[in-house]
Amino acid sequence: MTAAQGEALSAAETTAYRLGSGPGGWVERLGEDVIISYKSDAALAELLQGLAVQCAAYGWQARRVFARFMPTKNAERVSPVLHNGDATLPLTTVVTEAGIRYGLDMGAGYSHGLFLDQRLNRARLRAMKPKRLLNTFAYTCSFSVVAALAGAETLSVDLSRKSLDRGRHNFELNEIAETGHRFVVDDTMELLPKLAARGEQFDAIVLDPPTFSRSANGRRWQVEQHFEDLLGAALEVAAPKCAILLSTNCTKFDTATLERRARWCAKARRRTADYEKPVAPPDFPPGHGATTLWMMVR
Ligand SMILES: C[S@@+](CC[C@H](N)C(=O)[O-])C[C@H]1O[C@@H](n2cnc3c(N)ncnc32)[C@H](O)[C@@H]1O
Repeated sequence: MTAAQGEALSAAETTAYRLGSGPGGWVERLGEDVIISYKSDAALAELLQGLAVQCAAYGWQARRVFARFMPTKNAERVSPVLHNGDATLPLTTVVTEAGIRYGLDMGAGYSHGLFLDQRLNRARLRAMKPKRLLNTFAYTCSFSVVAALAGAETLSVDLSRKSLDRGRHNFELNEIAETGHRFVVDDTMELLPKLAARGEQFDAIVLDPPTFSRSANGRRWQVEQHFEDLLGAALEVAAPKCAILLSTNCTKFDTATLERRARWCAKARRRTADYEKPVAPPDFPPGHGATTLWMMVR
C-alpha cells in the first residue's frame, strides 16, 4: 500500500484495508488497530518489520497489533492474539468502508467480521441499487448493509445465528431499521428451493460460499462439487436483469473456471447472461483475495 493509496482510502472514509501482502502472510489496518495473518514465525517477524517501516514512513502508530496464525488445517484455526498494545481494551472495534460502519470482533473466532477483498464488490452492489437482495452465506451481512443503504429489501441467510446477530448489529451501527430485512438461519441449499416455491424473486444475489462446510443436520457442502447445484437453484429465484455475484476462495477456481461453470448452469436453466470480471482492489495483489465474477442475467 502506497501513501497515496492510503490517503485516497482515508478520503473515501475507509479505515479498513490491506497495508501489505507477501508469500508468508499479510497485514490489515482495521481502524486504529492492525492484524497480521502469518504462516510461520519467520513470516511474522518479517511482516512486523514491514509494518514498522510503513508506520514510520506515514507517521502513523497502530493502537494495537493482533497476530493470527494461519494453520493449514481449518480445524486448527483460533482467534487472533494480541501481539502488542493495551490488553484491557475491548476486543471489539468499529471500522468504516466508504463511510459505512462495520463492527469487528477479534475474540469471535478466526475471522474478525469483514472480508476486505470484497470492498469493490460491495461498492458495486451499492451503486446498482437493487430493489431486492438475496445474500446467501451472509456471515456478518456486509453485502446486505450496502444494499439496504441503497434502498433494497434484503434477505440474509447463514447457518450461523451468531453471524447473523452480528449482521443485525451492523444494520444498527448504520441506523437501518429492520423493516424489509430478513435474517434467516438456514442452509442455503435448503432455503433456495423454498424461496422458489414461494415465487420469490431477487434483483441481486450474492453467492460467496465457503470451500467446505457441514450444516447442523449433517449436510455436507463442498464448493467444487456443489457449485452447479447452488447456481442452478439461485437462477430459479433470479429476476430478469438480476446481478449475481459469484465468489470463492477455493484455489481450484480461477475466473475462467467460474465463468465456464456458470455458463453451463445458465444454459441448463435456459437463461442467458453477460459476465464481468471485477477489478481487484489495489491493496490485493494477484493471488490474494477471493476469485469473483459478476453474472449479469439478461
Ligand atoms: C466465506 S463466509 C461468507 C462471507 C460473506 N459473503 C462476506 O462477504 O462477509 C462463509 C459463511 O457461510 C456460512 N455457511 C457455511 N455453509 C453454509 C450453508 N450451507 N448455508 C448457509 N450458510 C453457510 C458460514 O457460517 C459463513 O458465515
